[in-house]
Amino acid sequence: MTKPRILSAEDAKRLYDDLGAGQDGEAYYEDPALDLVVAHGSFATAQSIFEFGCGTGRFAQRLLGDHMPLAATYIAVDVSPVMAGLAKERVAAFAKRAMILQTDGSMHLPIADDRIDRFICAFVIDLLSDDDARALIHEAHRALRSGGLLCLTSLTRGRGVVPRLISHLWTAVHAILPQRVGGCRPVALRPLVDERLWKIDHMSQVAPFGIASDVLIAKKR
Ligand SMILES: C[S@@+](CC[C@H](N)C(=O)[O-])C[C@H]1O[C@@H](n2cnc3c(N)ncnc32)[C@H](O)[C@@H]1O
Repeated sequence: MTKPRILSAEDAKRLYDDLGAGQDGEAYYEDPALDLVVAHGSFATAQSIFEFGCGTGRFAQRLLGDHMPLAATYIAVDVSPVMAGLAKERVAAFAKRAMILQTDGSMHLPIADDRIDRFICAFVIDLLSDDDARALIHEAHRALRSGGLLCLTSLTRGRGVVPRLISHLWTAVHAILPQRVGGCRPVALRPLVDERLWKIDHMSQVAPFGIASDVLIAKKR
């Protein structure tokens, strides 16, 4: 198998700075997966939520407005200053308990040990190398409190004729021109999660319009 062409953090920053609010055009296939994250992420009982790669802040706005307790806090990072700016505008109404930071793309989280209740990463693992994805999940384990939830969703290899065909085409485009597909390629989430450290509470796949996403919710052991 050929090695995937992973974008550097600098390239991802440039790409998403250019895309800006256009990222919300992906909602047609992202939302069914995000609905499952909401359904299985028990956000009503979370006091402290962290999101890696928040994009335009669409999911943050939904969580803060409809699913988090009124006193719960939300912190997010994004490598793109344009995305971080859009997300800040989006959560402005919740500014007292929401913070968005622009980072250099590091997998290190600006969070002390055992501090957060939920770690969210939606459609970013599929941009990262396997090594970075594992390092990020390791960091999530460090930052989460015992019993806290890892909430992941990403593009994945589809099952069934149409999703599988689309996954093949997507992977082929990614191999030639990764920027054309937002730097993302189908990945499997489960092998990235070490079950000695995590108890998997929920694992599923959705494929709206044939575009498959994995959803994985796991509890820190
Ligand atoms: C496909 S978008 C997903 C955005 C959002 N989570 C959503 O579901 O709509 C990927 C996001 O991850 C950000 N990103 C990519 N690599 C990153 C990194 N190494 N550190 C932080 N953010 C990153 C991009 O700037 C972009 O906003």
